[in-house]
Amino acid sequence: MKVLNIGSMNLDYVYSVDHIIQPGETEATGSRNTFLGGKGMNQSVALAKAGVDVYHGGLIGEDGQPFLDACKEHGVKSDFIQKIEGGVTGHTVIQIDKNAQNCILLFGGANQMLTEAYVDEVLSHFSSEDMLLLQNEVNMLPYIVDKAYEKGMQIALNPSPYNEKLDAVDMKKISIFLLNEVEGAQVTGLTDPEEIIAKMKELFPHAKIVLTLGKDGAMYADAEQKHYQPIFKVKAVDTTAAGDTFTGYFLAGLAEGMPIPDVLKMSAKASSIAVTRAGAVPSIPLRAEVEEALKEA
Ligand code: RIB
Repeated sequence: MKVLNIGSMNLDYVYSVDHIIQPGETEATGSRNTFLGGKGMNQSVALAKAGVDVYHGGLIGEDGQPFLDACKEHGVKSDFIQKIEGGVTGHTVIQIDKNAQNCILLFGGANQMLTEAYVDEVLSHFSSEDMLLLQNEVNMLPYIVDKAYEKGMQIALNPSPYNEKLDAVDMKKISIFLLNEVEGAQVTGLTDPEEIIAKMKELFPHAKIVLTLGKDGAMYADAEQKHYQPIFKVKAVDTTAAGDTFTGYFLAGLAEGMPIPDVLKMSAKASSIAVTRAGAVPSIPLRAEVEEALKEA
């Protein structure tokens, strides 16, 4: 099975701050670092590092060469990434406070320039044997979902960041939801994790649901089973891409047919390693490292 991930590529400008800035306040920053990120790229790198045959689809501007280099370095196939002449790659401004909490300002840039022709061309290389992964940092999601569903592809959606654009997506066509508790609340209108899971199961009875709960761990449910996985406690320095790492590792384990409790454990371990490192793409661990750490745990 191949995984096609049509997703964002962002240059992350990361500022360390004492506290997340308040309205009207001016705050000096401790440092600024630039990392490769974007939920799409992070998840493709996590999939590749976990051992999956992953193709990344999406658009970059003329400043986007580092993403092609990163794909090569980390084993993500970049055949379908296109550079937009005169375009600008997506970017973010990220504040990280002294407790490793972040907040993110997102500029879509080339990520928002997908066209029907581009999507059709990319999807023409995939079949019902393959999986499509999506997040909500590119345009055209409703179209991509409809076309991939017509082809019989299994569709995994990380509805992040959650906004009104997702209302146009036919969620009944999604086979796997990977969402955090905030997104879970936005989809269901509920806040209690057990209730979110129950509502998701009622709304999407055939889907697999993965609900991540930050420091409270993660839950999984489908029509037959339900599991809980606590976090591995570590000293976090940067939580950016923790969820993306979890998503990549989860889908990798699922594709291999591992039992769900093992998949959850591996994903939790991978993201616990990611939060001990700065940046998005550079923080994602290799499978061998995750497995070694699991033996020690
Ligand atoms: O999920 C983390 C990512 O969200 C960052 O890399 C940033 O680019 C934003 O898209």
